[in-house]
Amino acid sequence: MNVLLTGSGGREHALAWKIAQSPLLTRLFIAPGNAGTAQAGCNTPIKVTDFAETGKFALREHIDIIVVGPEEPLVKGIADYFASRPELKHIPVIGPPAQGAQLEGSKDFAKKFMLRHGIPTAAYRSFTGGQETEAQDFIRSLQSPYVLKADGLAAGKGVVIVNSQEEAFTALHEMFSGKFGAAGEKVVIEEFLSGIELSVFALTDGENYLILPEAKDYKRTGEGDTGLNTGGMGAVSPVPFATKEFMERVETRIVRPTVEGLRKDDIPYRGFIFFGLMNVKGNPVVIEYNVRMGDPETEVVIPRIESDLLELLQSAACGTLNRQTITVSRQTAATVMLVSGGYPGSYEKGKPVSGLKSTEDCILFHAGTANADGQAVTAGGRVIAVTALADNMENALAKSYANAEIIDYEGKYFRRDIGFDLK
Ligand code: AMP
Ligand code: GLY
Repeated sequence: MNVLLTGSGGREHALAWKIAQSPLLTRLFIAPGNAGTAQAGCNTPIKVTDFAETGKFALREHIDIIVVGPEEPLVKGIADYFASRPELKHIPVIGPPAQGAQLEGSKDFAKKFMLRHGIPTAAYRSFTGGQETEAQDFIRSLQSPYVLKADGLAAGKGVVIVNSQEEAFTALHEMFSGKFGAAGEKVVIEEFLSGIELSVFALTDGENYLILPEAKDYKRTGEGDTGLNTGGMGAVSPVPFATKEFMERVETRIVRPTVEGLRKDDIPYRGFIFFGLMNVKGNPVVIEYNVRMGDPETEVVIPRIESDLLELLQSAACGTLNRQTITVSRQTAATVMLVSGGYPGSYEKGKPVSGLKSTEDCILFHAGTANADGQAVTAGGRVIAVTALADNMENALAKSYANAEIIDYEGKYFRRDIGFDLK
């Protein structure tokens, strides 16, 4: 099979690394990819939202399946683009159509979906700009802390959690005044959930699903979960509190009703579903849906999957996931994200990266690198995810950290306490 994978982060490198191991693979292309994906396949400089070029390339290279890494092209309708064109519709896209991608693209849509299908989530109301007074009244009726979310995609920055009503009013006003652009025209205000978070992933063909290994992501920039939110500073899988009993609850209360709900709503969804969950006293509650794999969760989830990922993706495309099972390693995977100094604020790019040799049998997934005359240079806030597998979390982390010390570039920063709350 010829595969086209779109995206350019650590998630895509992990997917490319795994797809490249499949006996079913003929050629793998990554658009646009990074210096790491170039080791797993062939990079091609097409933007993830340039559907016309993606279509032309897919025809020219006889692509059999397109795997979409990030959310933006899904929300903008890449699956619909392919499905609606006679010359392209034979090429399956792994990723939902725009309507299904609204699970991530609109918090209000996701909330209504969960309410309609009886899926546990925080109580909420949504408001538009003309309803600022009503929104303030609703905030007054809630207990602190207050959770406000811009409805649309806001690059992971659209959620504000504050302790006082004053701060909540200010955040509300800022959202309505365009702080997050069109994403903030509608605002979801919801009940604060207290518990510990985890990420659960499913691959579905629209009817059947397979649950992939779960993971825990460390989103804050600083140790002890302090400081600004980032895309993710590290992850581990499995998650010790995700016991068999807990995961059964996740499946019966959340995963199955979600897949059935999509079907009832006539949304033909084939692709990954990412359930951002809170464990509230042993009960899983949905914080958010994403319509793609997580990053850096993919960098720990994928290395634990022993099954042929390409075979699973092909089954998802054909509607035959009921014939598949998934084999998962019992080992623990940990990843430590090396980032550029200043991230998630402003940072410099183009710094040469040295020490890019995997030691301690780590896997180095490139998150934000580029090739400059054969030399890998930094090209993003998140630079390299250092993943290791071992018999327990401590050993996996020890290997990752040993390798994280060896890789170097100006401004390197990483959290030294990944997994701290699971020990
Ligand atoms: P999101 O962008 O939806 O992933 O939200 C960012 C983060 O805000 C989540 O990972 C949670 O840590 C936190 N969060 C979102 N919604 C809630 C909630 N209702 N209660 C507590 N924390 C929340
Ligand atoms: N690591 C969280 C995300 O991918 O959204």
